Amino acid sequence: MSHADAAPWARRRTYAIISHPDAGKTTLTENILFTAGAIRLAGQVRARGENRRTKSDWMKIERERGISVSASVMTYEHAGLTFNLLDTPGHEDFSEDTYRTLTAADSAIMVLDAAKGVEPRTLKLVEVCRLRDIPILTFINKLDREALDPSELFDDIQDKLALDVAPMQWPVGSGNRFKGVADLKTNELVAYRRPEGEEFRESERFALDGNSITSELDPNELDELNEGVEIARELMPAFNPQSYAEGHMTPVYFGSALRKFGVRELIDALAEHAPGPQTQKAAAGPRETLEPGDKEVGGFVFKIQANMDPNHRDRVAFVRLSSGEFKRGMKLKTDKGKALTVSAPVMFFADDREIADNAYAGDVIGVPNHGVLRVGDTLSESGKWKVAGIPNFAPEMLRRARLKDPLKAKQLKKALESLAEEGVTQLFRLQVGGEFVIGAVGALQIDVMSQRVADEYGIDVEFEPCPFETARWLTGPDDKLEDFISRHKTAMAEDIDGDLVFLAKSGWEVSYSEEKFPDLTFSRTKERA
Ligand code: G4P
Repeated sequence: MSHADAAPWARRRTYAIISHPDAGKTTLTENILFTAGAIRLAGQVRARGENRRTKSDWMKIERERGISVSASVMTYEHAGLTFNLLDTPGHEDFSEDTYRTLTAADSAIMVLDAAKGVEPRTLKLVEVCRLRDIPILTFINKLDREALDPSELFDDIQDKLALDVAPMQWPVGSGNRFKGVADLKTNELVAYRRPEGEEFRESERFALDGNSITSELDPNELDELNEGVEIARELMPAFNPQSYAEGHMTPVYFGSALRKFGVRELIDALAEHAPGPQTQKAAAGPRETLEPGDKEVGGFVFKIQANMDPNHRDRVAFVRLSSGEFKRGMKLKTDKGKALTVSAPVMFFADDREIADNAYAGDVIGVPNHGVLRVGDTLSESGKWKVAGIPNFAPEMLRRARLKDPLKAKQLKKALESLAEEGVTQLFRLQVGGEFVIGAVGALQIDVMSQRVADEYGIDVEFEPCPFETARWLTGPDDKLEDFISRHKTAMAEDIDGDLVFLAKSGWEVSYSEEKFPDLTFSRTKERA
């Protein structure tokens, strides 16, 4: 398929990689960029060399302002398309940003460790993908190590994630006995060759029904493969592009990111199947949706990165463009009526060129500002749009704010509210006693909150453990709500918009309450105001 005549926005493919820590996301990212030719040597995602840092203006911004933005969006060209790979921070950087980034992606690659299958973090991230039903392509990694049986892995995906599974390949062995994968479309064996050093080897292919395959597989392996292929063809659903596009079916590929095996097939599959920029629902605006081909520039802030150096109050707001052609120097307005001229945006490119002048729907731009922009803000030329679908997510850790100097209560309120509005953490106020509780999905958010309250407001505050573990936004008929509230007085709080929140001691307590109060809705997400 040629994309040469398509509009620039239609050539964008914006996606994220979701995985449990250690499944191989970083290694895969490096090797995707390497295979697509965007970086010469693997290893640069993890340890970006100094020489790369000096190449463009935005890297200068990083250096001067101490804001690390370069790994947030990685752009490369492949098969006539421009791919924007959005970073979904994991490990100790895991935070609400990780979830929000998924609201800016049009599709995702799910990476599973072949020995482990679906792990808890994967499950959570898929739930977030499901809020917008974005298509998910699966890459089962680490086949060069002992792996679970393919059927077991497929069942795991199907059962835990409720996704239909369409195998596109079938692996032959794993670990020391890993011989490659059968490509079910071309009916070929893609033979595994252990690479030497950084070298990339083009895959060698053998027809499954040809003679030369016997030079690759012994009779037992061949039998095993034929049996697998038969299972895949006869007992499992065939790939249905529409079902994938609607987020109900995941095509599954296998490989080893570390050994650079299967990565070429994966990026080709992404080029073939992943959707371009999607229609963006609007909560307010001239029409119900923003279309990527619309003339007016529109986009939304999904992440804010602040300088941790107290002498520099700069922030970079990451804006995912939903429509129009953005030009440097453009004047845009937020949905709250603030105007700003975007004269020095951070743009991301495939080949380290100097700052380009245009960006399109699907692209991400970084907008330096002094705290004007907040997560969830919509930017557009008219200022009339408000994009829908940028939620707050139920926190997975809650901490009570304990002030050392009680005279600073007013300042603390201001600090917490302002930082929560920006999206650093969420903020709840207990109905009884009026104490502040902050909520986050990752510990990093709490650390950032502590540091910024201290640096920017000069307040000494401790965020101490409290009996609550998670929260749900609560709605329902008044009488039922009153009944619930009267029984859970000390667990009731309001969020920053004054909406009612139930702070729960555990996930179990949430399930129990849902059962006991079937007329109430306990929401895991809430649209940002
Ligand atoms: P993450 O970003 O998902 O957390 O995973 P990351 O890529 O950092 O990989 C986690 C570990 O798994 C790393 O080993 C990495 O080398 C290894 N790994 C990734 N892909 C493969 C694969 O296809 N096969 C095998 N055998 N290993 C793989 P580590 O020892 O923790 O780190 P390092 O010292 O190698 O950097």
